[in-house]
Amino acid sequence: MARYAHITGWGMSVPSRVLTNDELARTVETTKEWIVERTGIRERRVASPQQTTASLATDAALKALAAAGLSPRQVQLVIVATSTPEHIFPATACLVQDRIGAASAGAFDLSAACTGFVYALSVASQLIQTGAYQNALVIGSETLSRIVNWNDRATCVLFGDGAGALVLQSSSRPGGVLAFSMHSDGSGGDLLSLPAGGSRMPATHETIDQGLHFVSMNGREVYRFATRVMAAATREVLAKAGYVLGEVDLIIPHQANQRIIEAAARQLRVSMDRFFVNVDRYGNTSTASIPIAICEAFAAGRLHVGDRVVLVGFGAGLTWGAALLQWVAHAPVPAAPWRLSGLFIVRAMAWLRSVLRRLSRRVEAFLFGERGDTGRP
Ligand SMILES: CC(C)(COP(=O)(O)OP(=O)(O)OC[C@H]1O[C@@H](n2cnc3c(N)ncnc32)[C@H](O)[C@@H]1OP(=O)(O)O)[C@@H](O)C(=O)NCCC(=O)NCCS
Repeated sequence: MARYAHITGWGMSVPSRVLTNDELARTVETTKEWIVERTGIRERRVASPQQTTASLATDAALKALAAAGLSPRQVQLVIVATSTPEHIFPATACLVQDRIGAASAGAFDLSAACTGFVYALSVASQLIQTGAYQNALVIGSETLSRIVNWNDRATCVLFGDGAGALVLQSSSRPGGVLAFSMHSDGSGGDLLSLPAGGSRMPATHETIDQGLHFVSMNGREVYRFATRVMAAATREVLAKAGYVLGEVDLIIPHQANQRIIEAAARQLRVSMDRFFVNVDRYGNTSTASIPIAICEAFAAGRLHVGDRVVLVGFGAGLTWGAALLQWVAHAPVPAAPWRLSGLFIVRAMAWLRSVLRRLSRRVEAFLFGERGDTGRP
């Protein structure tokens, strides 16, 4: 029997701190008019010192699970697409798995920069469609404010922090993720990168002095690349599924720049009314931009059962890709107060479980010492 990967839950989490263009214009040589005219961005969110990529991802994931009415113990797979992982390892996805108490889930991070969410959704949907998994959490989460040079006006005006998550569940009813496309061109890797801090150039005093631990970008080249691939990826994913543009109800693009989205609309000859845009309020949140936009599109009444929706993204790598969805979920269940208070209990239980796991490791180490092999993970 054919299996389909349905989106049954969605959730987002953004820091409460809003950084406006006016505020930025007081710290770098720019104007709010320049930023709005060239990018469409009016404000972005910035994480507090306590907030991290994993904490935002955890918040978004728990909301998505509550919306789907799914317990963390039923989650079999956690993928976190991110460009700002908490560490090179362990994976941010493992931190999320622990904090939500997804005791039987596999977890890994996926690195495809801003296209990461489209990639992660494609991977998870395939694992569900093959019958390997029934339930998966796909998360895009970023704290880009930590890797942006706040003195570089060419980049600091563009990015913001936030997270979005989707629950995917197996179903025999047609719908959900219908098709996807993923592309890359590593020859353009230098156009948008974080030069230092990896194995090629480990962090040293020199790399820090030279600011090589910050985002480095050739804005004009990335702009040209983005406007070329958005329309092409949209057309490609539709062709794969056997649909034409006229059959698409909504396009949710990666929110990097209003002008890039308008250029894609012109190339596709589709009116801007059929695009969902919220870049004005969040800036570019990389992997989080598409899932946050999905949450807001639903809240704004722009997603209805049966709608065909194209998600399309691009980013460092270079990478680009698209996914075609058929929206199958009705109004989410999360508004129910018991579910929201239930989130506190879920968190507390996950925390307790984590503490007990650590404790049992210590006890085992004490009891078995060097002999080690207890047969337990
Ligand atoms: C970055 C970007 C907004 C710049 O817009 P642009 O119209 O291409 O502007 P340019 O790069 O041509 O720069 C024009 C001038 O504005 C200046 N400028 C750059 N940032 C500025 C800012 N924040 N405020 C004021 N002036 C600025 C430049 O220094 C340049 O000055 P110059 O002509 O004296 O050299 C645009 O190139 C872009 O969006 N690129 C894609 C970036 C992106 O999406 N990255 C993430 C991919 S996932």
